[in-house]
Amino acid sequence: MELNLKKWYRILAPRPVVLVSTVSSEGISNAAPFSFVTPVSSDPPLIAFASSPKHETAKNILDTGDFVVNLPSKDIVRQLWICADSIPDNESEIDAAKLTAEKSLKVRSPGIKECFARYECELESHHAAGDHLLIIGRILRVDVKDDLMEGEKFLVEKSGFLMHIEGPEFGLLGEVVKVK
Ligand SMILES: Cc1cc2nc3c(=O)[nH]c(=O)nc-3n(C[C@H](O)[C@H](O)[C@H](O)COP(=O)(O)O)c2cc1C
Repeated sequence: MELNLKKWYRILAPRPVVLVSTVSSEGISNAAPFSFVTPVSSDPPLIAFASSPKHETAKNILDTGDFVVNLPSKDIVRQLWICADSIPDNESEIDAAKLTAEKSLKVRSPGIKECFARYECELESHHAAGDHLLIIGRILRVDVKDDLMEGEKFLVEKSGFLMHIEGPEFGLLGEVVKVK
């Protein structure tokens, strides 16, 4: 069957979902979920995500020049959903979702304590891309919970890594297929 072009990405699913945390120039912290997200370069370490330019997240990043990409687990899926609600610009979504803002080491934007990993990023570049803004961040620091690493191996099943299917539906890793 042919699908409606407006929702072409519906079948490019599930997609990893991240919580991007930022701070406004007035010092109000913010977090929102994004699933249009991808690594773009390993050296230098660059990550990209696409945000509507209307989102507070995009405005804050253009104003302050930094952000944190946090990896949420299934344990905080309800709080993540609250972060997608519109709340007044002068209120913190991190507080509204009863999450905890934690000071970052390399950037002004806070990280989210309840997430199992985080990338502290400075804005590398931004590009208009249709109805979204492609935001590329240079990763300055990566942190992950100790118990999710076994040497160099990331214990993805243990992490509860969340993926977005559509609307209020999320998926978890079901099976690992090994080619050797
Ligand atoms: C699971 C999920 C994934 C989302 N992914 C994106 C995305 O990739 N790009 C985008 O612009 N909005 C995305 N949204 C919508 C924003 O998170 C939502 O509009 C949010 O309120 C924006 O917050 P802000 O204005 O505080 O930045 C997503 C929402 C959910 C629930």
